[in-house]
Amino acid sequence: MHVRPDPVSTADTGHANLGVVPTADWADHAAGLLSDRLAAKPDLVVCLPTGSTPVPLYARLSELDPAVGSATVVLLDEYLGLPAGHPARCDSMLGGALVDRLSRPPRFVTFAVDSADPEAACRRYDADIAVLGGLDLVVLGLGANGHVGMNEPGSLPDSPTRVVELAASTREAAAGYGADPVPTHGVTLGMAGILAAREIWLLATGIGKAAILRETLDGPVTGDVPATFLRGHPGLRVIVDEAATAELG
Ligand code: GLP
Repeated sequence: MHVRPDPVSTADTGHANLGVVPTADWADHAAGLLSDRLAAKPDLVVCLPTGSTPVPLYARLSELDPAVGSATVVLLDEYLGLPAGHPARCDSMLGGALVDRLSRPPRFVTFAVDSADPEAACRRYDADIAVLGGLDLVVLGLGANGHVGMNEPGSLPDSPTRVVELAASTREAAAGYGADPVPTHGVTLGMAGILAAREIWLLATGIGKAAILRETLDGPVTGDVPATFLRGHPGLRVIVDEAATAELG
Protein backbone atom coordinates (compact mmCIF):
# COMPACT_ATOMS: atom_id res chain seq x y z
CA MET A 1 0.00 0.00 0.00
CA HIS A 2 1.33 3.42 -0.80
CA VAL A 3 0.72 6.70 0.91
CA ARG A 4 -0.71 9.40 -1.31
CA PRO A 5 -0.91 12.65 0.63
CA ASP A 6 -3.26 15.32 -0.55
CA PRO A 7 -1.30 18.14 -2.15
CA VAL A 8 -1.18 21.44 -0.35
CA SER A 9 -4.18 23.53 -1.37
CA THR A 10 -3.61 25.47 -4.57
CA ALA A 11 -5.41 28.36 -2.85
CA ASP A 12 -2.28 28.77 -0.70
CA THR A 13 -0.16 29.50 -3.73
CA GLY A 14 -2.57 31.43 -5.90
CA HIS A 15 -1.92 29.11 -8.85
CA ALA A 16 -4.66 27.00 -10.33
CA ASN A 17 -3.42 23.59 -11.53
CA LEU A 18 -0.49 23.63 -9.09
CA GLY A 19 -0.18 20.74 -6.65
CA VAL A 20 2.52 21.17 -4.01
CA VAL A 21 3.59 18.03 -2.18
CA PRO A 22 6.02 17.65 0.75
CA THR A 23 9.40 16.68 -0.70
CA ALA A 24 9.48 13.32 1.07
CA ASP A 25 6.09 12.38 -0.39
CA TRP A 26 6.49 13.70 -3.93
CA ALA A 27 7.50 10.46 -5.65
CA ASP A 28 4.73 8.50 -3.94
CA HIS A 29 2.21 11.11 -4.92
CA ALA A 30 3.24 11.36 -8.57
CA ALA A 31 3.53 7.58 -8.96
CA GLY A 32 0.07 7.19 -7.47
CA LEU A 33 -1.38 9.68 -9.93
CA LEU A 34 0.17 7.88 -12.90
CA SER A 35 -0.90 4.50 -11.61
CA ASP A 36 -4.46 5.81 -11.28
CA ARG A 37 -4.39 7.08 -14.86
CA LEU A 38 -3.28 3.67 -16.12
CA ALA A 39 -6.04 1.99 -14.14
CA ALA A 40 -8.67 4.40 -15.49
CA LYS A 41 -7.59 4.06 -19.13
CA PRO A 42 -5.89 0.73 -19.91
CA ASP A 43 -5.00 1.90 -23.43
CA LEU A 44 -3.41 5.13 -22.20
CA VAL A 45 -0.88 6.68 -24.58
CA VAL A 46 1.56 8.47 -22.30
CA CYS A 47 4.71 10.34 -23.28
CA LEU A 48 7.41 10.26 -20.59
CA PRO A 49 10.63 12.21 -20.01
CA THR A 50 14.05 11.24 -18.82
CA GLY A 51 16.29 13.52 -16.75
CA SER A 52 16.79 13.26 -13.01
CA THR A 53 13.42 14.62 -11.84
CA PRO A 54 11.28 11.54 -12.62
CA VAL A 55 13.83 8.99 -11.36
CA PRO A 56 12.21 8.55 -7.90
CA LEU A 57 8.75 8.57 -9.50
CA TYR A 58 9.76 5.72 -11.85
CA ALA A 59 11.37 3.79 -8.97
CA ARG A 60 8.11 4.00 -7.01
CA LEU A 61 5.97 3.17 -10.03
CA SER A 62 8.14 0.14 -10.77
CA GLU A 63 7.51 -1.06 -7.21
CA LEU A 64 3.78 -0.53 -7.60
CA ASP A 65 4.04 -2.46 -10.89
CA PRO A 66 0.61 -1.40 -12.14
CA ALA A 67 -1.14 -3.46 -14.80
CA VAL A 68 -0.45 -1.51 -17.98
CA GLY A 69 -3.02 -3.30 -20.09
CA SER A 70 -2.59 -2.14 -23.67
CA ALA A 71 -0.98 1.16 -22.68
CA THR A 72 1.79 2.69 -24.76
CA VAL A 73 4.77 4.63 -23.42
CA VAL A 74 6.21 7.19 -25.84
CA LEU A 75 9.70 8.57 -25.30
CA LEU A 76 9.76 12.38 -25.16
CA ASP A 77 13.17 13.05 -26.70
CA GLU A 78 16.49 11.48 -27.68
CA TYR A 79 20.11 12.47 -28.10
CA LEU A 80 21.81 12.14 -31.47
CA GLY A 81 25.27 10.67 -31.86
CA LEU A 82 25.19 8.02 -29.15
CA PRO A 83 25.19 4.35 -30.19
CA ALA A 84 22.21 2.08 -29.51
CA GLY A 85 22.31 0.72 -25.98
CA HIS A 86 24.48 3.56 -24.62
CA PRO A 87 23.38 4.00 -20.99
CA ALA A 88 23.03 7.79 -21.40
CA ARG A 89 20.60 7.42 -24.31
CA CYS A 90 17.09 8.48 -23.36
CA ASP A 91 15.62 5.18 -24.59
CA SER A 92 18.10 3.28 -22.39
CA MET A 93 17.36 5.49 -19.38
CA LEU A 94 13.57 5.25 -19.61
CA GLY A 95 13.77 1.54 -20.42
CA GLY A 96 16.01 0.84 -17.45
CA ALA A 97 14.19 3.10 -15.01
CA LEU A 98 10.65 2.01 -15.81
CA VAL A 99 9.55 0.25 -18.99
CA ASP A 100 11.71 -2.87 -18.65
CA ARG A 101 11.13 -3.08 -14.90
CA LEU A 102 7.39 -3.63 -15.19
CA SER A 103 6.35 -7.27 -15.08
CA ARG A 104 4.40 -6.82 -18.32
CA PRO A 105 6.19 -4.03 -20.20
CA PRO A 106 3.98 -1.74 -22.27
CA ARG A 107 4.55 -0.97 -25.93
CA PHE A 108 7.43 1.52 -26.09
CA VAL A 109 7.63 4.07 -28.93
CA THR A 110 11.09 5.57 -29.36
CA PHE A 111 12.92 7.57 -32.03
CA ALA A 112 14.39 5.35 -34.76
CA VAL A 113 17.64 7.32 -34.76
CA ASP A 114 19.75 4.24 -35.52
CA SER A 115 17.89 3.06 -38.61
CA ALA A 116 16.69 6.29 -40.22
CA ASP A 117 18.05 9.76 -40.76
CA PRO A 118 17.01 11.96 -37.81
CA GLU A 119 14.35 13.96 -39.69
CA ALA A 120 12.88 10.74 -41.08
CA ALA A 121 12.91 9.33 -37.53
CA CYS A 122 10.88 12.37 -36.42
CA ARG A 123 8.28 11.82 -39.17
CA ARG A 124 8.02 8.13 -38.27
CA TYR A 125 7.62 9.03 -34.57
CA ASP A 126 4.80 11.47 -35.36
CA ALA A 127 3.15 8.84 -37.56
CA ASP A 128 3.37 6.27 -34.74
CA ILE A 129 1.64 8.71 -32.38
CA ALA A 130 -1.05 9.51 -34.96
CA VAL A 131 -1.82 5.81 -35.46
CA LEU A 132 -2.27 5.51 -31.69
CA GLY A 133 -4.88 8.29 -31.77
CA GLY A 134 -2.62 10.99 -30.31
CA LEU A 135 -1.18 11.47 -26.84
CA ASP A 136 -3.49 11.24 -23.86
CA LEU A 137 -0.88 12.55 -21.45
CA VAL A 138 2.56 14.14 -21.73
CA VAL A 139 4.67 14.19 -18.56
CA LEU A 140 7.49 16.76 -18.64
CA GLY A 141 10.52 17.69 -16.62
CA LEU A 142 11.44 21.36 -16.48
CA GLY A 143 14.84 22.25 -17.88
CA ALA A 144 16.91 24.74 -15.90
CA ASN A 145 16.66 27.07 -18.91
CA GLY A 146 12.89 26.58 -19.25
CA HIS A 147 13.03 23.89 -21.91
CA VAL A 148 10.53 21.05 -22.06
CA GLY A 149 11.66 17.94 -23.86
CA MET A 150 14.46 19.39 -25.96
CA ASN A 151 12.40 22.41 -26.95
CA GLU A 152 15.14 24.86 -26.10
CA PRO A 153 14.70 28.64 -25.74
CA GLY A 154 13.60 30.03 -29.10
CA SER A 155 11.00 27.32 -29.58
CA LEU A 156 7.49 28.40 -30.48
CA PRO A 157 4.06 26.90 -29.76
CA ASP A 158 3.91 25.50 -33.28
CA SER A 159 7.43 24.01 -33.25
CA PRO A 160 7.16 20.51 -34.73
CA THR A 161 8.89 17.26 -33.79
CA ARG A 162 12.37 17.94 -35.14
CA VAL A 163 16.13 17.91 -34.88
CA VAL A 164 17.33 20.52 -32.39
CA GLU A 165 20.65 21.97 -31.35
CA LEU A 166 21.12 21.48 -27.62
CA ALA A 167 21.72 24.41 -25.29
CA ALA A 168 24.95 24.48 -23.29
CA SER A 169 23.16 23.54 -20.04
CA THR A 170 21.48 20.58 -21.78
CA ARG A 171 24.87 19.37 -23.05
CA GLU A 172 26.25 19.66 -19.53
CA ALA A 173 23.34 17.59 -18.20
CA ALA A 174 24.01 14.96 -20.88
CA ALA A 175 27.68 14.84 -19.87
CA GLY A 176 26.49 14.29 -16.30
CA TYR A 177 24.61 11.18 -17.45
CA GLY A 178 27.87 9.86 -18.93
CA ALA A 179 27.14 10.76 -22.56
CA ASP A 180 30.45 10.47 -24.42
CA PRO A 181 30.86 12.08 -26.89
CA VAL A 182 28.65 14.80 -25.44
CA PRO A 183 25.75 15.24 -27.86
CA THR A 184 25.31 18.57 -29.61
CA HIS A 185 21.90 17.74 -31.12
CA GLY A 186 18.81 15.77 -30.31
CA VAL A 187 15.32 15.01 -31.52
CA THR A 188 12.24 15.95 -29.55
CA LEU A 189 8.49 15.91 -29.55
CA GLY A 190 7.80 19.51 -30.59
CA MET A 191 5.91 22.12 -28.61
CA ALA A 192 3.04 21.60 -31.06
CA GLY A 193 2.89 17.90 -30.20
CA ILE A 194 3.09 18.61 -26.47
CA LEU A 195 0.30 21.18 -26.67
CA ALA A 196 -1.83 18.76 -28.74
CA ALA A 197 -1.90 16.23 -25.89
CA ARG A 198 -5.12 15.92 -23.95
CA GLU A 199 -3.31 16.36 -20.63
CA ILE A 200 0.09 17.73 -19.60
CA TRP A 201 1.81 17.15 -16.27
CA LEU A 202 4.82 19.37 -15.57
CA LEU A 203 7.14 18.04 -12.86
CA ALA A 204 9.69 20.05 -10.87
CA THR A 205 11.50 19.21 -7.66
CA GLY A 206 14.22 20.79 -5.57
CA ILE A 207 15.43 24.27 -4.80
CA GLY A 208 17.45 24.24 -8.04
CA LYS A 209 14.18 24.53 -10.00
CA ALA A 210 12.68 27.31 -7.85
CA ALA A 211 13.75 30.23 -10.08
CA ILE A 212 12.72 28.64 -13.37
CA LEU A 213 9.42 27.44 -11.86
CA ARG A 214 8.65 31.04 -10.88
CA GLU A 215 9.47 32.23 -14.41
CA THR A 216 7.37 29.41 -15.87
CA LEU A 217 4.28 30.16 -13.81
CA ASP A 218 4.55 33.91 -13.20
CA GLY A 219 6.80 35.36 -15.90
CA PRO A 220 5.80 36.57 -19.34
CA VAL A 221 4.75 33.94 -21.85
CA THR A 222 7.73 33.83 -24.19
CA GLY A 223 9.81 31.58 -26.40
CA ASP A 224 12.74 32.47 -24.13
CA VAL A 225 11.12 30.13 -21.60
CA PRO A 226 9.25 27.54 -23.69
CA ALA A 227 7.59 26.03 -20.61
CA THR A 228 5.51 29.22 -20.32
CA PHE A 229 3.54 28.11 -23.40
CA LEU A 230 2.09 25.29 -21.31
CA ARG A 231 0.05 27.81 -19.31
CA GLY A 232 -2.45 28.14 -22.15
CA HIS A 233 -3.28 24.42 -22.08
CA PRO A 234 -6.59 23.53 -20.39
CA GLY A 235 -5.28 20.15 -19.24
CA LEU A 236 -2.11 21.40 -17.51
CA ARG A 237 -1.26 20.10 -14.07
CA VAL A 238 1.93 21.19 -12.29
CA ILE A 239 3.19 18.65 -9.76
CA VAL A 240 6.02 19.97 -7.61
CA ASP A 241 7.60 19.52 -4.24
CA GLU A 242 7.76 22.24 -1.60
CA ALA A 243 11.41 23.04 -2.31
CA ALA A 244 10.66 23.98 -5.91
CA THR A 245 8.09 26.57 -4.75
CA ALA A 246 10.61 28.59 -2.72
CA GLU A 247 10.44 31.59 -5.08
CA LEU A 248 6.71 31.61 -5.85
CA GLY A 249 4.85 34.64 -4.57
C1 GLP B 1 16.66 17.17 -20.10
C2 GLP B 1 15.70 16.34 -20.95
C3 GLP B 1 14.29 16.56 -20.56
C4 GLP B 1 14.25 16.68 -19.05
C5 GLP B 1 14.82 17.99 -18.65
C6 GLP B 1 14.95 18.21 -17.16
O1 GLP B 1 17.60 17.79 -20.91
N1 GLP B 1 15.84 16.53 -22.37
O2 GLP B 1 13.48 15.52 -21.03
O3 GLP B 1 12.92 16.60 -18.61
O4 GLP B 1 16.05 18.19 -19.30
O5 GLP B 1 15.96 17.44 -16.63
P1 GLP B 1 16.13 17.23 -15.08
O6 GLP B 1 14.91 16.52 -14.60
O7 GLP B 1 17.35 16.36 -14.93
O8 GLP B 1 16.29 18.56 -14.46
